[in-house]
Parts: sequence; C-alpha cells; structure tokens
Amino acid sequence: MLDNQPQIPQNVEVIWKEDVAHIAAHYQQKLAKHGVDSPKSLGGRGEAPDFTFFDHLLSGVSLPDEYSVLDIGCGATTLPQYLREQFPDQKLAHYLGIDLVPEFIEASVLAYPESNFITADFMDRDFTVERSDLVIANGVLVSRVRHYEEYVEAFLRKMIETSSGVIAFNLITDVDPDSPNYANHVDVGRTTFFPREDLEKLLARLPLQSVNVTDHRSFPDATDTFVWGAVGGLSCLSG
Ligand SMILES: C[S@@+](CC[C@H](N)C(=O)[O-])C[C@H]1O[C@@H](n2cnc3c(N)ncnc32)[C@H](O)[C@@H]1O
Repeated sequence: MLDNQPQIPQNVEVIWKEDVAHIAAHYQQKLAKHGVDSPKSLGGRGEAPDFTFFDHLLSGVSLPDEYSVLDIGCGATTLPQYLREQFPDQKLAHYLGIDLVPEFIEASVLAYPESNFITADFMDRDFTVERSDLVIANGVLVSRVRHYEEYVEAFLRKMIETSSGVIAFNLITDVDPDSPNYANHVDVGRTTFFPREDLEKLLARLPLQSVNVTDHRSFPDATDTFVWGAVGGLSCLSG
C-alpha cells in the first residue's frame, strides 16, 4: 500500500470526493496566479503548451476514419487541435471534454464552440457517458488523493468501461527524492508518483487486450510513464 492505510473504508467515495475538491482548489489557485492562457495554470513548467506529452501518450495508436473522444481533465483544452493536426486523414466526429474546474470549461467552450464540455468529476457515480473510441486522461492521475493506488485503479476501470477502443493515460513513476517539486507528494492535491512496479501489477489486473508502456524523462527530476491500452475485441490499433 502506498498510503500505509491498510483498509479501504466503505465511504472511500466520500473521501475521494473531498480530495478531488482539493485538487480543483489547487488548480483554481494556479489559475488565479497565472491566468487561463498560461500552461502554468495546469501545472506546466513553461509558458508554451507542451504537445510532446500527447506525442508520447498516443505514439502507436491509430484511429478509425471517424472517431469519438472523451478527454478527462481537459483543462483549458488543447487536444482537439493536436488530434486534427496529427491524424489529418481521420475525422474527429465527436469530442467531449470534462474537468472539475468551471473556469477551464468556460475557456474551452470559447476555444472550441463546436465541441462538447461538462464541468464534472469523472469519478462521480452520476457521471456516465456513451463509449468513445479514445478515452484519454493526460496529467490527471498525478494528483494525490487518500488511498491513491485504489483511486487510480478505480479510475482506470471506469475509463475502460467508457471506451470502445483505446484508453490512454500517464503517471509519474519515479521522482528525485531531493526535488522540492515532490517534497510534499503525499499531501492531498499535490503532484505525486506511482511506483513503476506497482503500475505493472495494476496493468496485469486490468481487462485490457494489450498495453503499450513508454517511460520518458519529461523533466530532470521525474519520470513519466505513458500507457495506452486496447479495450475489447473491436480495437482500432496498429502497433
Ligand atoms: C495537469 S491538468 C491537464 C489538463 C489537460 N489534460 C492537458 O493535457 O493540458 C489536469 C486536469 O485534470 C483535472 N482533473 C483532475 N481530476 C479530475 C477528475 N476526477 N475529473 C475531472 N477532471 C479532473 C484537473 O482539474 C486539471 O484541469
């Protein structure tokens, strides 16, 4: 157990709801400081959007001629533009972005008026949607909640239930213990990490047909692990 909390309480969903509210407040503080146009409001370290995360996340994924996307934790939303540029021969037929933070959703609606957005917690029992070809969560599972390992597993299982093709997500799997960026990584809402060996055990438990795992040292003090997995029998993957 990562948290040294041996038992999962029956009310874990209530605990996660409280902790997710901390995550939202954390991003709202960043928003107030940096403004919605700065990637720093989303925890980025530079002033320009970093599309290399999507490159790593979607490397080897192929999509059907017309495809749908659920973008969990869309933030200020950059994925549709990226997808249209990287997959010019396929049509992004339906995009739904969801995020905890209403200010991000308001900015996203202005940027992509033709797309669909909802302010919602993906883990909320009441949040249900039709399956999408690609269900993606970039930078979403790196925030600490209590019973973090179980939260990640429950989140990924819900992603699988919501996908008819591929799920894609990333985790931080190793950090420099001396880095100030991760000094408080066990505090709720803080950026945290999920050890690589625990991720491998988790992936083996999940109902995925195949998985693709890539490590990348995105920053000098941390390793990101990018995962995509094929769901069900009608996968649309190459690679
Ligand atoms: C690091 S940002 C990434 C934003 C975007 N995916 C990108 O690549 O630019 C993480 C986002 O996930 C959102 N988030 C975290 N947990 C969530 C949840 N349970 N449901 C919906 N959104 C969530 C946060 O509010 C935040 O906007």
